Order: sequence, then C-alpha cells, then structure tokens
Amino acid sequence: MSNSEKNKTIALSVKDIQISFGDLMAVKGVTFDLYENEVIGLIGENGAGKSTMLKILSGIYKPDKGTIELGGKTLKLKSPEDANAAGIGVVHQEQSLFTNLSVAENMDISVGKTGSSSLMGFYNWAKVNASARQTLAKMGSKLDPRTLVGDLPFVDRQMVEIARAIRVGEGANTKPVVILDEPTSLLEPHETAVLEREISKIRELGSVVFVSHRLDEVIRVCDRILVMRDGELVAIRSKSEVDQNELFRLMVGREAKSEKREYRRQNQGEAPVVELKSLTKKGKFKNVNLALAAGEITAIVGANGSGREELCKAIYGALPADSGKLLIHGVEAKNWSVPKAIKFGFGLVPSERKVEGMVGGLDASSNLSLIFGKESTVGPFIDTKKQKAVADTWFEKLDVRPKNPTLELERFSGGNQQKVVMAKWLKSEELELLILDHPLRGLDPGAAATVNSLIRQAVQNNTAVILLADTLEEALEMGDQIVVMRDGEVSSVFDLHKEQPTSLDLLEKMV
Ligand SMILES: Nc1ncnc2c1ncn2[C@@H]1O[C@H](COP(=O)(O)OP(=O)(O)OP(=O)(O)O)[C@@H](O)[C@H]1O
Ligand SMILES: [Mg+2]
Repeated sequence: MSNSEKNKTIALSVKDIQISFGDLMAVKGVTFDLYENEVIGLIGENGAGKSTMLKILSGIYKPDKGTIELGGKTLKLKSPEDANAAGIGVVHQEQSLFTNLSVAENMDISVGKTGSSSLMGFYNWAKVNASARQTLAKMGSKLDPRTLVGDLPFVDRQMVEIARAIRVGEGANTKPVVILDEPTSLLEPHETAVLEREISKIRELGSVVFVSHRLDEVIRVCDRILVMRDGELVAIRSKSEVDQNELFRLMVGREAKSEKREYRRQNQGEAPVVELKSLTKKGKFKNVNLALAAGEITAIVGANGSGREELCKAIYGALPADSGKLLIHGVEAKNWSVPKAIKFGFGLVPSERKVEGMVGGLDASSNLSLIFGKESTVGPFIDTKKQKAVADTWFEKLDVRPKNPTLELERFSGGNQQKVVMAKWLKSEELELLILDHPLRGLDPGAAATVNSLIRQAVQNNTAVILLADTLEEALEMGDQIVVMRDGEVSSVFDLHKEQPTSLDLLEKMV
C-alpha cells in the first residue's frame, strides 16, 4: 500500500465476491477497496464480468460468496431498494426509466422512501419538480422536470438516469457511492464532456465506480483503474502509471494492432445505390441531396437535433418524407416502407438495441435468422441444422462469448448482444445498404476492431453503408465521405478520397 493510500478513508470494501450462472463463473473472487472522494474505472472485454459485479453492488444479484462493506459496516443487499437506501445509486448499461412518467417522477421514484415528496399524504408536485430541477441544474442541464421521459431523445434520458443516481446518493446518511455502467457509450462528444465534469463533482461528494470501453476517457476521469478478465480482477493501476496501450494489454493479454487505412474507390461510374433529391420532412430535415455509392461508407455527423437519425429512418422507410425523391439504383421509390426496404436488401442496426434490435427472450441463433433467413431455410421451413451452422460461423467470426447460440440473447453481456445484432445483417450476402447507428456501442476495443473489419468486408462485397459513429475520429477513420448535418440541412460534404479534414473542421460545420 502506498503512502497516499494509507491516508484515505475506505468508502466501500469488496471482499472475495463470487457468482456463477449455471456452470459459468462470471465473477471470481473479486476484492478491492473504493476510497472516499475517489473515482475508480472498471474495464475489461465484453463478458469479463463488469456489469455482473455492479449488479451485485446494487443488490440485483446475490453473490454466492464474499462480503460488501460500506462505511465499515457489512451490507446485506436483498434488493436494489436496499442498495439505494444505503446510498448506492446506479445507472445500468440498459436504460431503465419509465417512459410514461415525467423526468421529475422518474428521479423521485428512487428516493421516494425519504418521504420528501409527500405533503400530508398528497404528492407535492412543486417540491418534486423543484428538487429535480435543482439536481439537474447541478449537472448543468436545463431539462424541464415536467417533460415526459418518453418524449426525450436518448442522450437526455441518459442525463436523467445519471441525475437519478446522484439523487439517491444525496438522500443517504453516508457519503454517496454512484455506479455508472457505460454511461457515455451513446453520448456525443460535448455531452461526454459535461458528464466528465459531473463525475468530478460527484468525487467531491462521495465516490464513483465507472465502467467504460473508451480507454482515453477512463484515464482522464478515473483515479485508479481496475481491470477484469474472465471474471477475475487481474490488475489495479493508478492513472499516473498507465497508458491506453498498457490497459489494452491488461484487458486482452495481447498488444493492440492498428489497421492502416487505404483509400481506394471501387465503383467509379456506377449509379448510386441510393440517391436523395431535395428530400424533406417538415421539422426534421430539409432539401437533402445525397448519393450513397455501393462499396462506400458514408458517415453522417451532426449534433443532437441535426436530423441525421430521422434522415436514416426516412431512407429505411420508417419515416415518410413530405417531399423530394428517394431513388434506388436510379429508380424512384414510391410508397416507401420498411418491409420494402428489407426486401431491397436494406438493413439497420439501431442504437437502442433493447428496444428495436433484438428479441431478448429468444435464443441467439433464432435472433440471427430473424432477417433474410434464406441461409437457414428449406422452402418456408427453418432448417435447424443450417441455422445452427450459420450461428456457429458467426459466433466464431465475432468471437461471441459464451459460444452458445442456444442461450437466450438477454443472458449475454451487452457487448456480446451487440455482436449478435450486427451479425444478423452482416451474414447476408445480398445486403445493398446497411445503416449503422452507433454500431460500436458497448464493444470493447478488440471487438470494435473486429466489427469495423467486418463492416469493411461488407463494403468489399459492394454494400453501401451509412454510419452514425460514436466519435468524429471513428467517422474519419471509417468514412469514404463525411456528410455534416446542421439543423436538418446538409452543411458540408467531405470526400475523404480527395481531402482529409480534421475533427475540428467537422465540428466547425456542425455548430
Ligand atoms: N443472468 C445471466 N444468466 C446467464 N449468464 C449471465 C447472466 N448475466 C451475465 N451472464 C454471463 O456472465 C458473463 C459476464 O457478463 P457481464 O454482463 O458481467 O459482462 P460485462 O463485462 O459487463 O460485458 P460488456 O462489456 O459486454 O457489457 C457473460 O459471459 C454473460 O453471458
Ligand atoms: Mg456490461
């Protein structure tokens, strides 16, 4: 123990925690201390056991073995409410807000036990809204607490989740412990900056456990970093003694290798797969002119409200445009719809996979054959042998863990679910257009590299790709052209085969 550690007070002490699901031991004898006023990062490959560990700390799973102490007292967590009452607030990897309740109501649910919200048995709306507003203001958010959560875009909902976790901490007697499982994976760069500042503020009040796959961010935000591999805690490093390369090595047990980008245009002169002519949807996007070429990646960048999600929906047939034209291989598409788009070989990987991309209760193999399925059918019937072969091939290609396609999809870790959702489309050889909305969300750096190389393979097979990337760097790394959108309009198009803009160049056109 170093000198500086001796002077610190232990907030949370985790001793020899262990848990198994069937014959899979997901967390194996994990021991660590979290100090007061400290932020620790928890990193590891997809399926390493991070979320499981956090679910134990938040009272969702009961460990088979081991103890948790908070402020020197052993905690017996029987439910998430117990954890909340003890001052442990959690933001899970998948969103858990009630969409039919307001922001303030959502934030109040977790602290309801304190009775702060009732006034002689009646719900004190003024108080509930005011205190929600106060917490949101602390985060630098101007969200109206009365807004229905269902009406909010994803990023704002994430802010509400975090505000709610902070509220829990505020209500307890001990210093709060806030647990954040990949809170930044879907945030835009400027929003991530807000969150990072907020984490520094929570550090002054209590302590934080923070899970992220963005190693640069982890080093920026955390005081110490814990590395898990296959359920075990394999390393603890203070941030001053590591760099990204070493963290990667600790996580996967090998060196990171970088693929060098080559710019080669494959299909010069061919008609674009999709062409947009003055496509307009009132209040969402207007006068969009774009050509999506076969074998090329078009990265669309833009801030929230730029209209890029809606534009993707329109191309996919999920949002009818008001005016303008959508041409497919030069022919105008009329009465465009999702079933038609799928028939033409269009695919979409949504950013909110739980809501739109997967059927959690169905096994992974069946999830894979939800689309196209030609590879796995004989006439109208599913050929289970073929289905199994397809699943085995893709589980191998994407290194999905555990290697068991008969397991229900919801039992896989977040990153491994994402791999299956991606494979559902990538497996098709007749894919004309693939729309990827934050495809690397929740993937560890190794898995992200695998998925990127599979996207490039699809491109080699002449698929046109639309990419809404997590970061501008990712857009620049993957794109053949970059389309910048601002307030519903295309503000700029960069052809990366001719010019090489920087992130700053893109940012200037975004705001
Ligand atoms: N309820 C469950 N039933 C069966 N297996 C489970 C369950 N929950 C988790 N697992 C398994 O435990 C292992 C660890 O999963 P966990 O979700 O903790 O990983 P993770 O480190 O959070 O990964 P990711 O980065 O992908 O989110 C995985 O192999 C997963 O499939
Ligand atoms: Mg996880």
